Amino acid sequence: MPSTRKTKIEGKLIISIDIGTTYTAASYCITGDGLTRFSPHFQEINRWPKQAFSDAKIPSVIYYDQWRVPRLHGAEAEDEESLMEAEIEGWDRAEWWKLQLRPDYLPMPAGFSPTALPDGITVDDVFCDQFAYVMKNIRAFVIKSHGGGEAHWESLAASMVVVLTTPNGWEGKHQHRMRLAAVRAGLVTEANKNRIRFVTEGEAAVYFTLDSNNSKLHRSISIGKNILVCDAGGGTTDTCVYKLNQLSPISIEEITSPSCFVAGGVFVSSAARQHIVSKLKGTKWNSPLTIDNAVRTFDRQAKRCFSGSHDSYIKLDGSSETDKIHAVHGGRLRISKNDMCTFFDPYIQRVLDGIQETATAVDWSVDQIILVGGFAESEYVFNKIKAWADDVKIPIAKPDGVLSKAIAHGALSWQIHSGVQSRIAKLHYGAETNHEFNVHDPDMVGRLKYKNIGGQWRVRHGWQSIVHKNQILRIGRDHHMWFHLDIAEGDDLQVEMELFAYRFQDPPAFFKNIDDSLVEGFIHIGTVKGDLTRYYGSETMKRSAAGKKFKTLQYEVCLSFDEIELQARLRWKENEKIVFGKATISYDV
Ligand SMILES: Nc1ncnc2c1ncn2[C@@H]1O[C@H](COP(=O)(O)OP(=O)(O)OP(=O)(O)O)[C@@H](O)[C@H]1O
Ligand SMILES: [Mg+2]
Repeated sequence: MPSTRKTKIEGKLIISIDIGTTYTAASYCITGDGLTRFSPHFQEINRWPKQAFSDAKIPSVIYYDQWRVPRLHGAEAEDEESLMEAEIEGWDRAEWWKLQLRPDYLPMPAGFSPTALPDGITVDDVFCDQFAYVMKNIRAFVIKSHGGGEAHWESLAASMVVVLTTPNGWEGKHQHRMRLAAVRAGLVTEANKNRIRFVTEGEAAVYFTLDSNNSKLHRSISIGKNILVCDAGGGTTDTCVYKLNQLSPISIEEITSPSCFVAGGVFVSSAARQHIVSKLKGTKWNSPLTIDNAVRTFDRQAKRCFSGSHDSYIKLDGSSETDKIHAVHGGRLRISKNDMCTFFDPYIQRVLDGIQETATAVDWSVDQIILVGGFAESEYVFNKIKAWADDVKIPIAKPDGVLSKAIAHGALSWQIHSGVQSRIAKLHYGAETNHEFNVHDPDMVGRLKYKNIGGQWRVRHGWQSIVHKNQILRIGRDHHMWFHLDIAEGDDLQVEMELFAYRFQDPPAFFKNIDDSLVEGFIHIGTVKGDLTRYYGSETMKRSAAGKKFKTLQYEVCLSFDEIELQARLRWKENEKIVFGKATISYDV
């Protein structure tokens, strides 16, 4: 174990950080230190300030003071003394903030509103502060475990790779925001921002399961089998089916589009809070502090112990009073078994719906379901999902071992084994084109037509898919589409192309409505740029029927999905040579 061997190790440091809605975990490994390529030791960070017991997870909670300086992090937010200080000083609590970064089209469950962030703090700020805190502790852990002091850390950190995890549903835009926050937190410099890589939490879960270092479950899964992974966590549940191609090194193939929906443990706690508030109305326990404590007790005990067969009791304060009308017995609020079920059941149903939808996408050709995530740790939740799986005769299992490190360890394994070989496009990706005007086409009714330089009537805001939803995307290949542009003398030669995605099945002919708004289902992804000045210079001039001079420039938009974050660039030919435009997507933030 690195924590005891205290020897200085040469090699490349890989760290992974899994920021969850409720918990954050981090792991690291050092490759190229003489151990075999695919089996470096994975070490979770299991020493955090103010932790009562050594644990690989800390709450994703930060307390901010009035100057918006972070004062409490992680396990400190569970330490009674620190909480007392927070209360006296009036520090504000930020929790469940990860949900605020989610794509707009992932709706929150009805009746749930995420806790507001402290005034003046954005979700990007909290990500930055959380990254900075985690990094500080990884650094301290590595220095303490390996010897060699700060100088050794500095040499490791200089070439360090950082793997961050995101739910399946997060788009490039959200990863971009996380990357900005990570750079701002000092994880890597701006110049090294490509050392930050992203893996989906679902994919990390498969790697954790298949990596023989971490889990024994890999023995029951054989080559060619389809594995449905479901990560039911605090705020989001991710499902996807992967086909196992090879075990060493691990090689998997995404065979369904990864899906993500809002469901998990925080919604159970939120439903319990509403119940507790209504039950304690008109009692001596109706104070924000007692209610907060009661919800915390529910979260730590009643929620975790509930098996579906008994009522639960929540300690309210030190008193032993009874108030039968309000279901308080000996200072404890009784929550009936049926009420407990109503907190869980809607979200278990969502998880089941998600699993069924994903299984349907592969015609139920699923050999194994693997369940990870804290929500599935509940005996009540697991039994219900298991009963369903038994019914449809699909084996279901949870990886053994400490689940708290599953996603962070899986992310390291993913980096070492170089990720999946192919992916399935989650969305249609494409850009604007113009369509030839057709007076009989109902889609064109009410749309403005214009005459292009060649004298044809065209209509703007047409949709052109470059990659179709559910299309197989092979790693190392890009997907492209030609566009052409008639440029008159004096026109701007800095081309900017807006990239969009469409999330429903069949994209319409136009991506904008007549009033210029986006048609429902389209999402603006970002802007790709190209400087066509030299290209323009090398092309021959044409003359339109109206005598106007112009040149026709043709360029391709190339999309690649080697990272889960979409990469895009423009490409064209200048004097028979292929030239690439800037490979930047300026995501909207
Ligand atoms: N034994 C258990 N019984 C019931 N709920 C549990 C149990 N263990 C953990 N949980 C709940 O699971 C949730 C945390 O799960 P997990 O750590 O997988 O989520 P996360 O990574 O923080 O969130 P996400 O991945 O969704 O962003 C919390 O709501 C926690 O209360
Ligand atoms: Mg998680």
